[in-house]
Amino acid sequence: MRIAVPKETHAGDQRVAATAESVKKLLGLGHSVAVESGAGLGAGVRDADYSAAGADVRADRAAVLKDAEIIFKVRAPDAAELKLYPKGAALVALLEPYAAKKEAAAYAKAGVTALAMEFVPRITRAQSMDALSSQANLAGYRAVIEGAQIYGRALPMMMTAAGTVAAARVFVMGAGVAGLQAIATARRLGAIVSATDVRPAAKEQVASLGAKFIAVEDEEFKAAETAAGYAKPMSAEYQQKQAALVADHIAKQDIVVTTALIPGRPAPVLVTEAMVRSMRAGSVIVDLAVVQGGNCPLSKPDEVVDVNGVKVVGFSNLPGRVAADASALYARNLVALLPLLTGEGGALAPKWDDEIVKAAVITRDGSVVHPSLQDA
Ligand code: NAI
Repeated sequence: MRIAVPKETHAGDQRVAATAESVKKLLGLGHSVAVESGAGLGAGVRDADYSAAGADVRADRAAVLKDAEIIFKVRAPDAAELKLYPKGAALVALLEPYAAKKEAAAYAKAGVTALAMEFVPRITRAQSMDALSSQANLAGYRAVIEGAQIYGRALPMMMTAAGTVAAARVFVMGAGVAGLQAIATARRLGAIVSATDVRPAAKEQVASLGAKFIAVEDEEFKAAETAAGYAKPMSAEYQQKQAALVADHIAKQDIVVTTALIPGRPAPVLVTEAMVRSMRAGSVIVDLAVVQGGNCPLSKPDEVVDVNGVKVVGFSNLPGRVAADASALYARNLVALLPLLTGEGGALAPKWDDEIVKAAVITRDGSVVHPSLQDA
């Protein structure tokens, strides 16, 4: 089967859906891989590396996509790119499916079978395909690195002849995949770290990383985790209690990293303008939820907003700022998923009854089939 890897068109995304390593694996499985020239440059993979791995590198996007049966991408295609997709081909990408009703209708109309990597379920068997985790982990790491770089002081305590430099205080809000990696990274840099979450399971995980757990642990907290492991939207009453608890805490923090999300909904507001203004000058807030509306209402996508000396950082694509590692992990996620999309002799034959395929497929046979998108 021919697998196509076009260059990403999403502004500023340096990632790529295949690396030289993944190309070798795909060829080993009996497939051929066409890569658009320059597709890997932002992630440190040259055309020559792809060629050496056995890929067919083409400068012309149409030539890359011609006869493709599967198209591996990081982001959704734009309209011009979609036109080049052969009817019946499968598209596998991070399609931001919750906000993609119009796009899903376009994939269906083009006769493309679209699979959203975000919808791969968080079950044990799918761990190697879990792109949300592979990317969120790097986002959490990078959030702390960006925050530390913008913060005008040092993170570790330093005893010098000229006096002591105090350790920075880092507060991580939302201790899922990204938050836990942010905690670990801030700890490695020598900060004093605390964290909060609404899921009781997070408490032990935060403590095991050496950070202090801060949360309103009432009856609602005890029931805040869904069967899928995600957080439920919390009541207004809980949110008020949570805000009162964290307000005092935030005023004493130097770097706040917010990662709180509820799948398919706007991000909960956790850091109000008053809280931002309570922080001392030079402090930094890194809002990973900025694309979903932000955990801080003052954050703006891809901007650093200065609020009376406090920097509110809204980088919308943190995994893209660690493009080489993010691409390598994502490419492995795709290789792991491929056996579910192929049949005898490696032909395109999605295992429609497999629960992972069922969950991830959003369009099939000219229709939008995912329940969360069906009124498109
Ligand atoms: P996410 O990206 O949806 O949300 C990030 C974090 O924000 C979550 O921990 C959530 O509880 C928290 N949050 C939501 N509302 C909040 C609020 N009002 N205040 C404070 N925190 C709030 O979650 P992510 O990172 O995708 O992970 C969700 C869970 O799934 C985690 O427990 C993770 O360990 C688990 N997981 C399990 C996997 C598996 O078993 N295969 C794979 C990946 C994740």
